[in-house]
Amino acid sequence: MQKLRGALIGCGFFAVNQMHAWNDVEGAEIVAICDRDAERLRIVGDQFAIARRYSDAAQMFADGGFDFVDIATTVQSHRALVEMAAAHKVPAICQKPFARTLSDAKAMVAACHAAGIPLMVHENFRWQTPIQAVRKALDAGAIGEPFWGRFSFRSGFDVFSGQPYLAEGERFIIEDLGIHTLDIARFILGDVTKLVARTRRVNPKIRGEDVATILLDHEGGATSIVDVSYATKLGTEPFPETLIELDGTEGTIRLSQGYRLEITNASGTSVTDVAPQLLSWASRPWHNIQESVFAIQQHWADRLRDGGETSTSGADNLKTFALVEAAYESAASGNPVEIGALLK
Ligand SMILES: NC(=O)c1ccc[n+]([C@@H]2O[C@H](COP(=O)([O-])OP(=O)(O)OC[C@H]3O[C@@H](n4cnc5c(N)ncnc54)[C@H](O)[C@@H]3O)[C@@H](O)[C@H]2O)c1
Repeated sequence: MQKLRGALIGCGFFAVNQMHAWNDVEGAEIVAICDRDAERLRIVGDQFAIARRYSDAAQMFADGGFDFVDIATTVQSHRALVEMAAAHKVPAICQKPFARTLSDAKAMVAACHAAGIPLMVHENFRWQTPIQAVRKALDAGAIGEPFWGRFSFRSGFDVFSGQPYLAEGERFIIEDLGIHTLDIARFILGDVTKLVARTRRVNPKIRGEDVATILLDHEGGATSIVDVSYATKLGTEPFPETLIELDGTEGTIRLSQGYRLEITNASGTSVTDVAPQLLSWASRPWHNIQESVFAIQQHWADRLRDGGETSTSGADNLKTFALVEAAYESAASGNPVEIGALLK
């Protein structure tokens, strides 16, 4: 089987995980990399022995010779780079947050659709082993019909040392982290019709909000809470675990700290360890995220080969992105926001 050849743009903090994961993905490899920062290009090029190196993405696309592009830059460049991929008819993966605004995100989806190329957002959290385990339990009917949920990420972890730009933006936790938690809520309980949100900033050294509480109405009738915080100092730091509570007509699911999955129903209570694997290149506590990076990239390679739609396609991600926009709108106005109107 001929390997799919990929090119990666943006050799920063997180791209190192993506490069390690590409080494492990069956049927794909990275043949070219690009970064406008010469030092990052050299570090990642040398670490992963990539000979083709570019400081300019336009030049890399002009030279071609790859089957897909993996855009691992920060949000400012996403629209231009995705549109460049569409112009060259190169299938594209784009990191989250997908775009700066929902209208940019819609334009990116439309450009790829018109070019006839697949577009996947690198929305990896739903690919985490514990999150997949919750989904499987629901699919198996373990708790009947879920009517209530809570998706919680509360931490005091210093994310700013690895990603200093997170302290500088007007928006922080919903756009950076809550976007994953909202996607998990959609993945587990289905699409959302309406939400109301409250935010605040506790850490005085950052510009954006670091605490958010969001109440969601799901299409199927369930109610859920997405609560995220980077201002929560706990005895045992849970970063980067998402904790889940689900109540259903026939039982309950609790995904608690330490990757412990407890299911209670008429058969009794079962407890399973759903800890992620520690991949050879991974390190704690990031291993949960790192494993999901491998899983989503393997999914991309498999779907690119068989022509199937990816789980977090650009079109799917518009529905998560709309929740981010709605949460900021609601926090600013104090009022609930209808999601359907944003997606028109
Ligand atoms: N899914 C996750 O779990 C996860 C975790 C961390 C970060 N991220 C996301 O990954 C993205 C990258 O974050 P990071 O922390 O690695 O950022 P970073 O600033 O460390 O790296 C970005 C790199 O892209 C390069 N770059 C930017 N624009 C470019 C352009 N037009 N052409 C070529 N190179 C360009 C920069 O020089 C830099 O080296 C962000 O969108 C972030 O939200 C996702």
